Amino acid sequence: QGATIYQQCQGCHQPTGAGIPGVFPPLAGHIPEVLAAKGGREYLVQVMLYGLTGEITVKGQKYSGAMPAFAQLSDDQVAAVLNHVSTSWGNKLPQGQKAFTAAEVKAQRAKKLTSAQVNEARKKLGLK
Ligand code: HEM
Repeated sequence: QGATIYQQCQGCHQPTGAGIPGVFPPLAGHIPEVLAAKGGREYLVQVMLYGLTGEITVKGQKYSGAMPAFAQLSDDQVAAVLNHVSTSWGNKLPQGQKAFTAAEVKAQRAKKLTSAQVNEARKKLGLK
């Protein structure tokens, strides 16, 4: 199911997860570093539900696009696509982390954030 939902992502992030440098950030080789940060799991759920706007830096490259929200996906579907991107293209969940669950998604959906607030949350992750 996650791979099917990823069809809605690949126009931007590409079938390989490599993104397009400077335009769409890579997910391949990058999701694990987000997951390794404290608060990273919650942040990834928030990006799905609320989208992301404002400048970010991924592997030294700046992005200032707009990622649309995918709030129309069910809690199960959001968990499935996050599990897909966390375990594809050589990505792995960090040691000790379990697969995303619908309950985790539900908890973030209750927060009702804006895409700008998601960018603020990203700053607190301390990503390089
Ligand atoms: C950012 C995943 C669909 C464009 C991100 C990030 C993730 C992600 C995890 C955050 C990366 C980070 O903070 O380092 C996904 C998934 C998608 C999806 C799983 C499908 C459900 C899309 C689509 C577009 C897009 C369809 C283009 C229309 C972007 C852009 C950013 C981004 C431009 C960076 C936003 C900024 O510069 O503030 N995506 N994405 N994404 N995504 Fe997506």
